[in-house]
Amino acid sequence: MSEQERNDVESRRSTLKRLAGYLMGGGLVAAYGSLAAVAARFLYPARPAETGFLFVTDLASLGVGESLVYTTPNGATVNVTRKGAGVGIEDFLALSSVCPHLGCQVHWEPQNDRYFCPCHNGIFTPEGVGIGGPPGEAGQSLSQFPLKIENGLLFIEVPLADVARGPEGPDSLSSSGKA
Ligand code: FES
Repeated sequence: MSEQERNDVESRRSTLKRLAGYLMGGGLVAAYGSLAAVAARFLYPARPAETGFLFVTDLASLGVGESLVYTTPNGATVNVTRKGAGVGIEDFLALSSVCPHLGCQVHWEPQNDRYFCPCHNGIFTPEGVGIGGPPGEAGQSLSQFPLKIENGLLFIEVPLADVARGPEGPDSLSSSGKA
């Protein structure tokens, strides 16, 4: 083998060694990066959305058996109902109007004393429990929103991120008998 050929072989070997070194280094960086991401998720888990209470109405404005449709700042609608004549939180109920089956809007049918979803004939009790159609078969219920009463005023708990997007406040209320 000539001197020139030996130099060429040596040059190819050193190029291959460098390339292998780069590949190994890249692999290590990727592996440690993944490990760091897993560790970060473990140390700083995603926090649940913060919530806050927004004003809905004063108690005197909502008669027994009546409901109103409350629209949250992000546009979700909630049926807020007064079930009893008392002034305790157990006399009120806030149910999402979004059907848990595929997300259609449910509406109140006063003549049938039930919530009804027209998409697939879903039926819910006044407490939001699915008793007919796909939600009834799957044991699904309408989501319930927490409420609180302070000084004769009713408040609903919603995610605070919604508030940051664009508050609507009491203007979003609309009374409709039972929603
Ligand atoms: S979306 Fe309501 S029953 Fe299917």
